[in-house]
Amino acid sequence: MAKAAIDGIVQEARPDELLIDLINRTGASVPHVCYHPQLGPVQTCDTCMVEVNGRLVRACATEVADGMKVSTKSAKASAAQVEAFDRILSNHLLYCTVCDNNNGNCTVHNTTKMLAIEHQRIPFRSKPYEVDNTNPFYRYDPDQCILCGRCVEACQNVEVNETLSINWEDPNPRVLWDGGSTIGESSCVSCGHCVTVCPCNALMEKSMLGHAGFLTSLKKSALSGMIDVVKGVEPETGYGSILQVSEAESAMREHRIRKTKTVCTYCGVGCTFDVWTKDRHILKVAPEHGPANGISTCVKGKFGWGHINSEDRLTTPLIREGDKFCQASWDEALSLVASKLSVLKTKNGPDSIAFISSSKCTNEESYLMQKLARAVVGTNNVDNCSRYCQSPATQGLFRTVGYGGDSGSISDMEKADLVLIIGSNTAESHPVIATRVKSAHKLDGQKLIVSDLREHEMARRADLFLHPKPGTDLFWLNAISRYLLDNGLAHTKFLDQWVNGLDEYRKSLEPFTMQAASRICGVPEETLNTVAHIIADAKAMCILWAMGVTQHTQGSDTSTAISNLLLVSGNYMRPGTGAYPLRGHNNVQGASDHGSMPNMLPGYQSVTDPDVRSRFETGWKVKLPSTKGLDNHQMVEAIHGGKLKAMYLIGEEMSIVDSNANYVGDAFAKLDFFVVQDIFFSNTCRYADVVLPGAPSLEKEGTFTSTERRIQRLYEVLPPLEGCRPDWKIVQDVANQLGASWQYQHPSEVMDEIASLTPMFAGVNYERLAGYKSLQWPVAADGTDEPLLYTKRFAFPDGKARLFPVSWIGPTDQPDAQFDLHLNNGRLLEHFHEGNLTYRTEGIREKIPDTFVEVSPELAEERGIQSGTWVQLVSRYGQVRVRAVVTDRVHGRELYMPMNSVESPVNRLTSSHTDPVTNTPAYKETSVHMNVLAEVGENPLPRKNSRFGHPTPQNGVEVERKWKRPDYAPPGNGLVQIQTNK
Ligand code: SF4
Ligand code: SF4
Ligand code: SF4
Ligand code: FES
Repeated sequence: MAKAAIDGIVQEARPDELLIDLINRTGASVPHVCYHPQLGPVQTCDTCMVEVNGRLVRACATEVADGMKVSTKSAKASAAQVEAFDRILSNHLLYCTVCDNNNGNCTVHNTTKMLAIEHQRIPFRSKPYEVDNTNPFYRYDPDQCILCGRCVEACQNVEVNETLSINWEDPNPRVLWDGGSTIGESSCVSCGHCVTVCPCNALMEKSMLGHAGFLTSLKKSALSGMIDVVKGVEPETGYGSILQVSEAESAMREHRIRKTKTVCTYCGVGCTFDVWTKDRHILKVAPEHGPANGISTCVKGKFGWGHINSEDRLTTPLIREGDKFCQASWDEALSLVASKLSVLKTKNGPDSIAFISSSKCTNEESYLMQKLARAVVGTNNVDNCSRYCQSPATQGLFRTVGYGGDSGSISDMEKADLVLIIGSNTAESHPVIATRVKSAHKLDGQKLIVSDLREHEMARRADLFLHPKPGTDLFWLNAISRYLLDNGLAHTKFLDQWVNGLDEYRKSLEPFTMQAASRICGVPEETLNTVAHIIADAKAMCILWAMGVTQHTQGSDTSTAISNLLLVSGNYMRPGTGAYPLRGHNNVQGASDHGSMPNMLPGYQSVTDPDVRSRFETGWKVKLPSTKGLDNHQMVEAIHGGKLKAMYLIGEEMSIVDSNANYVGDAFAKLDFFVVQDIFFSNTCRYADVVLPGAPSLEKEGTFTSTERRIQRLYEVLPPLEGCRPDWKIVQDVANQLGASWQYQHPSEVMDEIASLTPMFAGVNYERLAGYKSLQWPVAADGTDEPLLYTKRFAFPDGKARLFPVSWIGPTDQPDAQFDLHLNNGRLLEHFHEGNLTYRTEGIREKIPDTFVEVSPELAEERGIQSGTWVQLVSRYGQVRVRAVVTDRVHGRELYMPMNSVESPVNRLTSSHTDPVTNTPAYKETSVHMNVLAEVGENPLPRKNSRFGHPTPQNGVEVERKWKRPDYAPPGNGLVQIQTNK
């Protein structure tokens, strides 16, 4: 442990601690502008100069060494700090009082004050560039840019989109997008990292401009006039009094700007941030403390909140009258729901009614929905959309290691020295997780292998990219496991100590030779051998997978094969190892965890286990049904079969996200009674008898559980729009109308009840989740959680994992002479799923206005297609009309269609085939015929989409290039007289 004397006081440093961190941690102070703990030393600003053993050094770039004598305030250090900051001010017009960034957290303002700067020695010099307003979400003002390079570091090495750089050699350096493009036509993906870390107002969210300050909404001419006034008084009064005025204005803002922590409503990464609001206007999203994301977000979490104040929000219940919907009061709607459900239950029994929970809703809401189904109506017919994506992965993990969740944390993915990604377009579907992998790969030598049909971003970055034939992953995974075992490359010590079932498993691998794998999967044998050896050589491997694996008829078996491979190679139980089925929706993990499943009560406790049932029966004071209910696939079949008469569905666009959408729509049309609860009149609402207006995530409290099993609280950012109710309250209202007497006043009471009945959540409560605190289940009664599972044992009674043999069946719905093309489908970065939420953000619509189908260059040439050509895709189940995008992201006769459409959803084409273990639809096994239509339209991807950009990868901000400028010298070479008020 190194000890250093900071201004005469001896302090103990942590291992490898930077001097600046020690200074900040121990309460001393030194100015610092470019340093940001989550970016590390950028070294561009020179304001953190301190004297160490008589020499000037940058505190941000110096590790503490034993015996250091540090002075932060010596004459030499102080003069250097002031000189460095004076250079910064020459790049920035200080007009705080009329600046939207004057919110108490502006680094430039605060450093001016800290250094007591009164007048600049070097006058402000305008840069010869226009403000760039071409991105829909943020703008860059070169005149305000202090060239600290934080944004470049964030874009190059945290987000790793590699768009930003600074032209240090130019007489007038500035931040560049793609080396000199406008922002709007660059590769910028609008993730917002750069804006988040900018220490001043050079990069600002457009939603802040003209809204944050009391005087900032003035017309541009008036604003310029005021800036001139501010600058005009500066020579006489100095900055001190100007800062005092601006601080008074900033303090006034405190009273009208609210900053509320929430959890992102989109994907399963679990990003958390403060949302700044003024009345109902969302000023900005500010990520900083998130345990999963730190400063990171993607475009959806940072800017995709247009749905909140969208004019077409549902604000009143609707009741069907013939072909029309009429507005109704809550009392009318709720009593109609209760009376219809009661009548149907009496007539046809409780199992004639089914419930679909929402994986967009909170854990507490999911819990209440299944409680309503089981305890009030008396049926286990309850499910959620994990059936559409993640159930097979959960099954694979249940079979082999015991818990149905990611075995570690995002930090483990960063630590791994090998990451294998299978069937996951991580950079678009789980963008913030992708940043961690991209960064470890770029900066820390992590190896990356990707197996996918498409050459997406992660595939292009990979050290090795495999492109197996569609639906054949199980085969090559089993072949690798066999190869490891046959060639003495398996982790025998680990297998001996921790794994059961090796003999039977080895026998099951008999057909899986590398030769057979090469033939079936279409991957060269040498490539597969190389993969096997890289796995064997890796000290710690994580495997990430998603819907490219699970949405197949062998989704469960392939997930099992992945876990088997992790066991054979000894990649569980240690940091940097494990299984990571990346969860799609923000709370798809939590919806299942909290019992919205036909066979499981909360905490994966079986409905057929009498002890479990009896605990819930005592807690809920009812008799519970004891047989497994219908899953959502079976529900559709049961409606067609006349057995299921009514359904209550919350926040699911099931009519187009379920596979074989035409068949699902036909089923909904047959229901006797259908209740849909949503925030918009979705396509599914068209089939409803009653529509209930719920509330989006920003308008309620509760918890979400992310892909890394992380439970996090969301707070009410805004009150529910008038007429809407938080979904937990609506479910309670329905339950009480049906005769229950639930009295929950707040979701925390629901969580207390969950903890009391569910060992997995025994120690979860709102106090332990306050603010940015989080817990990763299982959580013991004393609050101990498990960021990394299986560190001591696997979750089976004997503590050992199980190798689970799986055999090869092969995909369904294969191409033939008539349906000759394979159609793949999935997410896009910009839109979430079908886009019900994201199309309501104008900037996202601007970037991706419509859906499309990706066609390979070779197929395009063969069929005479160009980007913009309209085609009709016809499958065995339906058809859609869509424009083509010609791209080498897809190969040969494989097409890809994103899910982002309500009008032409890809699921009109997909089948009703399912994985027999979980009934998850085989979305990714679809063959189509493509009719090329005569009409050629605009390219559905507008030029301003980031996919047309040309990134400029470099090693961060490359400050060494600044240091080589002829006009650069480190500050502090000679004492410079700068007037301060000290
Ligand atoms: S991708 Fe765009 S928004 Fe994200 S950090 Fe880079 S420049 Fe900024
Ligand atoms: S735009 Fe970039 S370089 Fe300029 S001040 Fe902001 S973070 Fe620093
Ligand atoms: S969509 Fe996912 S990656 Fe993007 S901000 Fe939200 S949680 Fe994070
Ligand atoms: S904070 Fe150390 S150089 Fe900027």
